[in-house]
Amino acid sequence: MKRLAVVGTGYVGLVSGTCFAEIGNQVTCCDIDQSKIDLLNKGEIPIYEPGLKELVAKNSEAGRLSFTTDIGTAIQDAEVVYIAVGTPMSETGEADLKYVRAVAQTIGENLNGYKVIVNKSTVPVGTGKMVEEIVRSASNGAYEFDIVSNPEFLREGSAIKDTMQMERAVIGATSEKAAGIIEELHSPFQTAIVKTNLESAEMLKYAANAFLATKISFINDIANICELVGADVTKVAEGMGLDSRIGPKFLNAGVGFGGSCFPKDTTALLHIAESAGYDFELIKAVIKTNIRQRETVVHKLKNIFGDLNGLNVSVLGLAFKPNTDDMRYAPSVDIIHAITEEGASVKAYDPVAIEEAKKQITAPISYYTDVYETIQNTDVCIILTEWPEVLSLDLNKAKELMNKAILIDGRNIFSLTDVKEKGFIYHSVGRPQ
Ligand code: UGA
Repeated sequence: MKRLAVVGTGYVGLVSGTCFAEIGNQVTCCDIDQSKIDLLNKGEIPIYEPGLKELVAKNSEAGRLSFTTDIGTAIQDAEVVYIAVGTPMSETGEADLKYVRAVAQTIGENLNGYKVIVNKSTVPVGTGKMVEEIVRSASNGAYEFDIVSNPEFLREGSAIKDTMQMERAVIGATSEKAAGIIEELHSPFQTAIVKTNLESAEMLKYAANAFLATKISFINDIANICELVGADVTKVAEGMGLDSRIGPKFLNAGVGFGGSCFPKDTTALLHIAESAGYDFELIKAVIKTNIRQRETVVHKLKNIFGDLNGLNVSVLGLAFKPNTDDMRYAPSVDIIHAITEEGASVKAYDPVAIEEAKKQITAPISYYTDVYETIQNTDVCIILTEWPEVLSLDLNKAKELMNKAILIDGRNIFSLTDVKEKGFIYHSVGRPQ
């Protein structure tokens, strides 16, 4: 059992802190945002993540998990301090480290003995060393401490499973002693451990996300070519994925990647490369393909209807993927803006992301939490997120409710024969019509 302070109760901090409590540690999650902490102390969760509310309640009741804005005291009481604050994309595309710097300063000011300071936020190579300098200067070198880079690999929507059953823990440490402490902390997870230095751990996180993003853009490019030559990308991907060197995952063609990680991390990696004097052409292409992939939906709409002015469009799914209310860099935002600018009116469905969507979508659209109300009296339905309610859409009912039986499926969720039998005009991604 270790005493942990986790600074930052966003996605990463809250899930990691809760899971560390679940395996028996004493965890204090802290944040400067009083309203967030008040919410958490009432058992409410500021984000939508399946199973998190129950796990927070269980560990709070067991006395292993608490929430506070008193970051100083939490740091003083802890043996291990996790930095899990946001590293948003700055105007220039680099990771903005102002929150990391502020936490490092607070840690330095409250250092009262040896501590392991762990960075969980995704940060550019060199940030661990920067944190070390800030802590040393803010503490006047009064105590020893170590820095560890321990990036997280959880996915929104399956964050608890991804943490409790993690495939590996990466530990980049400034000393053997610190690496040992963090390795021991992870022993209940029974996971593979990669021990290395700070820089390699920081690089590894960007490389992993950029590689997954590359897989997605690659299959999306293949899908676009499939459409031109009459091939079916789902079969191409199935056959590719059976090669164990390639693997079947992350080969689903669609409207491109969104969310708080891939768009931000690919751009940040490009900047890391540029600052190091390297022209990372491949990642530039990955980013470009991803932007273009959103535009393909609008092109398909124009190919069918010509003029979009006055068109009634329904959009099923706003969140960047199912099981989350996260709207950051969601393809739906760009697609809805593009079609409303051309004069179409939009009815949009999402089971949980509507409030977040309203913060991002500036166009005057109407929102629904029922798929059938959404598609009623629309000329075309665009599928952007594969929510269970969308996957189980009753096509016969949909055909009766819609003005025209036209589907643009950005997630390839229906079988080609099924939609054809039901009499739909169906445009999916990288499959024959
Ligand atoms: C991603 C990584 O998968 C995590 O390992 C990592 O920890 C996390 O970023 C992070 O850096 O914090 P996440 O952004 O939650 O997790 O979502 P993913 O499930 O990876 O999906 C990302 C995007 O790719 C979604 O828009 C999804 O629709 C898209 N995608 C994914 C595809 O278009 N095709 C695929 O085959 C897979």
